[in-house]
Amino acid sequence: MTNKKTQDLMEKLVSLCKRRGFIFQSSEIYGGINSCWDYGPLGVELKNNIKSYWWKSMTQFRDDIEGIDASILMHPLVWVTSGHVESFADPMVDCKSCKMRFRAEEVEGEKCPDCGGELTETRQFNLMFKTHMGAVEDEASVVYLRPETAQGIYVNFLNVLGPSRQKLPFGIAQIGKAFRNEISPGNFIFRSREFEQMEMQYFIHPREDEKWIEYWKEERIRWYHNLGIRKENLRFHLHDKKELAFYAKIAYDVEYNFPFSWKEIEGIHNRTDYDLSRHTQATAKDLTYFDDQTKDRFIPYIIETSAGVDRTMLVCLIDGYYEEVVKGEERTVLRLDPKIAPIKAGIYPLVKRDNMPEVAKKIEDLLRPHFKVFYDEGGAIGRRYRRQDEVGTPFGITVDSQTLEDETVTLRERDSMEQIRVKIDDLVGVLNKKIWGI
Ligand code: GAP
Repeated sequence: MTNKKTQDLMEKLVSLCKRRGFIFQSSEIYGGINSCWDYGPLGVELKNNIKSYWWKSMTQFRDDIEGIDASILMHPLVWVTSGHVESFADPMVDCKSCKMRFRAEEVEGEKCPDCGGELTETRQFNLMFKTHMGAVEDEASVVYLRPETAQGIYVNFLNVLGPSRQKLPFGIAQIGKAFRNEISPGNFIFRSREFEQMEMQYFIHPREDEKWIEYWKEERIRWYHNLGIRKENLRFHLHDKKELAFYAKIAYDVEYNFPFSWKEIEGIHNRTDYDLSRHTQATAKDLTYFDDQTKDRFIPYIIETSAGVDRTMLVCLIDGYYEEVVKGEERTVLRLDPKIAPIKAGIYPLVKRDNMPEVAKKIEDLLRPHFKVFYDEGGAIGRRYRRQDEVGTPFGITVDSQTLEDETVTLRERDSMEQIRVKIDDLVGVLNKKIWGI
């Protein structure tokens, strides 16, 4: 894709997201705040549906993963123990004239890319946000906004293991906010300073690490395929030594072919016994596991799958965005998988008379307990369809004169635009089958 096209696609997407209520710049009426985003009525539905599908895939469709929801603020020593205070940093340079800060790797030559000014020496810039807890603002009251959700899982390893009565291998899953004072945020919601992660830590016997990392690679890529992301736009990237995070022995990124280049959407890491060993040393709490079959006692290894909610959402929007000409008319369509589409069906009386709106309203009442639907009686039917195509609504239900005779409606599919007739009484079942396959 050329740069122009790339820019066009991102610009069109940002504009659609604003216009149709998916994503707004944070604090927009104050001029906005860099790298923070607000999710509007359709955006929050899409985001919640992505999270819910991940959550179900981890904690409902299988029996070896438990969920938790840990707090964002943790004991500050957690981040010393985890290595983040010391090592969670990017090398950066500052411009002495315009004061802009750049990642050292992004600067070619010795001058500021913006104003040509002189640059400082490279320094390590810690990405954690700090704040203070309690009434006094001093060094002793410093706490951090978590830069990853993972630590909330490690410190709760024993708390979950006991009540859940799980045996190795088993996992703990969590969805939640994370914060990083990124030096160069950008590309819309791709890199921001406040974002959400969907992380799962899978506790295993150390000798099985190679088997489980392969297993989780396959599971996770399949999850993106099941979200309808095109296979040719996904790949793995194996980290070389230079790229490896300080806690990882082996790491793969799931990458997506973004308009601005292939970029990471999820990290799959072999974190070994790094985290549990460090927490054991720091707290003197025994975080070992006793295998009552083999009578083995050991600190479990951890295979981590760490996905970004916001990045997954951006992938769904980009991958699903199409502009096409149908019967001489242009339409924009978001081919979102029905599982995650914000609105599942539009409901339309063909005309605003002959009892059609009343029947359509009854259908709305019938469907609302099961699905998020949208009732629309204004304007030509083609325009109403296209307004919903643009926000990814997979089905359109139209009440017409035949409905009044035989209690059937037309069910239009967003992608093929094919229409079939369905009995009103069968709508819930037909939609469930089409959305969930059940
Ligand atoms: N616990 C491991 C961990 O946090 P990571 O590779 O640093 O690993 C995992 O982050 C995922 O979190 C990334 O693949 C990405 O989807 C998301 N992520 C990280 N930084 C982000 C940012 N600044 N903005 C949006 N998403 C981000």
